[in-house]
Amino acid sequence: MRKALAAIQSAAAPDELEALRVRLLGRKGEVTAQLKALGSLPAAERPAAGKAVNRIKKELSAAIAERRRALNECLLDADLSAGGIDASLPGRGVLPGSEHPISRTLRRVRTILAGAGFSARSGPEIEDEFHNFTALNMPGNHPARDMHDTFYLPSGMLLRTHTSPVQIRSMLAEGAPLKIISSGRVFRRDSDQTHTPVFHQVEGLAVDEGVSLANLKSLLHEFAERFFERKVQVRFRASYFPFTEPSAEMDVRWEDGGWLEILGCGMVHPQVLRSGGLDPERYTGYAFGMGVERMAMLRYGVRDIRRLFGNDVRFLGQFAP
Ligand code: DAH
Repeated sequence: MRKALAAIQSAAAPDELEALRVRLLGRKGEVTAQLKALGSLPAAERPAAGKAVNRIKKELSAAIAERRRALNECLLDADLSAGGIDASLPGRGVLPGSEHPISRTLRRVRTILAGAGFSARSGPEIEDEFHNFTALNMPGNHPARDMHDTFYLPSGMLLRTHTSPVQIRSMLAEGAPLKIISSGRVFRRDSDQTHTPVFHQVEGLAVDEGVSLANLKSLLHEFAERFFERKVQVRFRASYFPFTEPSAEMDVRWEDGGWLEILGCGMVHPQVLRSGGLDPERYTGYAFGMGVERMAMLRYGVRDIRRLFGNDVRFLGQFAP
């Protein structure tokens, strides 16, 4: 017993200690053999002898555990003083984040348009009827209001259904000439594979003397080529928006030969210039509006818009730089 304890205390490494444990307490170990031998003792001696062996077993186990703890501590100390642990390394499992595809698309659109001389403006998400509808040539009973599926607040205010009200706010605040873009969240009561109740738009407006439809077409064609980073064919399809006249939708020729609509645009309606405090006899302007999610889906080949709002890291991780 004393020899065993001494051996345990002088074990110099975890392997050595483990070998000792097996020799003493293992299935074929010395103490185990003594326990087995109890059976051959006379019945009267068995209880006392059993107690003694068990006490030895307990003491040796405790001594081994204590020695193991001490050895581990020594190893850790040695590791630390040898510089084996670099506390300046980043922790495990820290994944780098990535820019959200919507932010990334927004940034691209803004950068391209900034290069064409447009500067950024913003407006409130909670709007009034005047800026969201009336001033944009949609008076109270105008049927186009129905298409907007508006969220109304109890106060009579509403969640803006598009970024176009920023056109009015900018004209009223700054007058002309004006060359601005405005981006942000817009809201509609709509939800399916290509619609979510909140989405993002970018709005552009240029007003000056002599601004023409030709200016609008060349700007948007150039924009499309920069955005998709290739030569693209575009076409302008006559359309209708209450705030522009004429109005058009711009389509881009896709690889499969089909045409895909990417934005709405037109020449600012004289009534809208007047709402913005400008004289339509002197000034003309063009405007355009596009859905950011739609642009992101086209650019990155995402088929379900809800992916953009699901925050699934397996999806988002694909946009890491
Ligand atoms: N506001 C329109 C919408 O939400 C988009 C739009 C179309 C904006 C034509 C414009 C424009 O400025 O000229 O559907």
